[in-house]
Amino acid sequence: MKRSKIKSLYAAPPVGQSVNVMGWLKTRRGGKKFSFAEVNDGSTIKNLQIVLDNSRFDEETLKQLTTGACVSITGNLVESVGQGQPIELHAETVTIFGPSDPETYPLQKKAHSLEFMREIAHLRPRSTTFGCILRLRHAMAYGIHRFFHEKGFFYVHTPIITASDCEGAGEMFTVTTLDLAAPPKNKDGQVDFSADFFGRPAHLTVSGQLNAELAALALSDVYTFGPTFRAENSNTTRHLAEFWMIEPEMAFYDLHDNMALAEEMLRFLIRLALEEHYDDLDFLCATYDEELIPRLKSVVESPFERCDYTRAVEILLHSGQSFEFSVEWGADLQSEHERYLVEKHFQKPVIVYNYPKDIKAFYMRQNDDGKTVAAMDVLFPKVGEIIGGSQREERYDKLLERIRQMGLPEENYWWYLDTRRFGSAPHSGFGLGFERLLTFLTGMGNIRDVIPFPRTPGNAEF
Ligand code: 4AD
Ligand code: MG
Repeated sequence: MKRSKIKSLYAAPPVGQSVNVMGWLKTRRGGKKFSFAEVNDGSTIKNLQIVLDNSRFDEETLKQLTTGACVSITGNLVESVGQGQPIELHAETVTIFGPSDPETYPLQKKAHSLEFMREIAHLRPRSTTFGCILRLRHAMAYGIHRFFHEKGFFYVHTPIITASDCEGAGEMFTVTTLDLAAPPKNKDGQVDFSADFFGRPAHLTVSGQLNAELAALALSDVYTFGPTFRAENSNTTRHLAEFWMIEPEMAFYDLHDNMALAEEMLRFLIRLALEEHYDDLDFLCATYDEELIPRLKSVVESPFERCDYTRAVEILLHSGQSFEFSVEWGADLQSEHERYLVEKHFQKPVIVYNYPKDIKAFYMRQNDDGKTVAAMDVLFPKVGEIIGGSQREERYDKLLERIRQMGLPEENYWWYLDTRRFGSAPHSGFGLGFERLLTFLTGMGNIRDVIPFPRTPGNAEF
């Protein structure tokens, strides 16, 4: 018999028919004559109740029906007379694929702390919480492709191994096949990377942007969506060493077009989650954060605020708040400042734009005031910065000047500069941190809980 997924049984219950389900037992209660089990196969948050007439099964089978065991059950699907579920399965045959010792299985029915579950990241996908998070993660990835596809954007695959530092912040992991115990040295005593695999120093990319720009200057509207890596030693609830980023890049967009696209995309994604994945959100809302669904709805309903950096600094200076980091024009906004703007002052998402050029990357377009660049950050409640982007410097001379001023290795960027020599075009783009989006969407307080296997300083176990 063909296996049915539990989600499809709830969607259109074939009542009165024989069905087969496979999945993992969430619980099992035994009475003298009947036993009840809850099975989940991950297709939905909903479990299917299984009713077993004990007299029909041998003792060994009944004994192995414990929390965590993997089973295949065939039987008759009926409307449930009990409270709490519309349908149940009256078991006729039971196969145990994988028993699970109830004494040692770490994920018992009781609620575990999120910290504990991080220590059992290999098993946490089986918990109700991580089932929700993983389904929502998929939904957002799918929604992102759908959003861009429907707008005529093309998905481009940008490299993971790169020789250039997009953000110029020097926070890259090195990729090498050299013998670290005895690397070849040049006559100055430095490691000789010409003997390395790529014949030069190579790194894991911090952003696909520079390559996405090359494609946008041919296909007009593109995006890349892949893993990015940052060797910044920040042990916070908002940083990962390996995270996924969505980076659209659009020819002929100015900064304001860029902001409008970012806003449209975020609202599209959150609306999609509310419309098509309410079950999962509802569980997270009830379990972890009762403000979650109201917060999501408010983002979908109210337009984002636009606030230029200089005005944001004025607002912070007049806020009467005492911040840990002082506020002054020219300094980067800290997360406490961002959250004040979003949560207290405007009480909605805010896009801060036109930042001082000295705190931003070399590729951002210089404004006529000589002090600021056409940068933008989208700030969200709870998470702070969720998107960073800009209009790009399309003028060859200005771009080269910036690369030199910032002391970047000019020879690494010749191909990037070439696009400004041949058919340069005004263009813009941004990067959405996928896990920051998911932190916001799920209400999880720690970014390590929205990626299956988090990579952070000192942590790459699973
Ligand atoms: O602001 P960032 O550094 O911008 C860029 O990398 C640009 N090249 C993007 C572009 O214009 N194409 O990073 C973009 C976003 C941030 O707003 C944040 O959401 C996320 O990536 N991010 C991180 N997420 C998790 N862990 C980290 N260590 C992150 N660093 C940045
Ligand atoms: Mg940023």
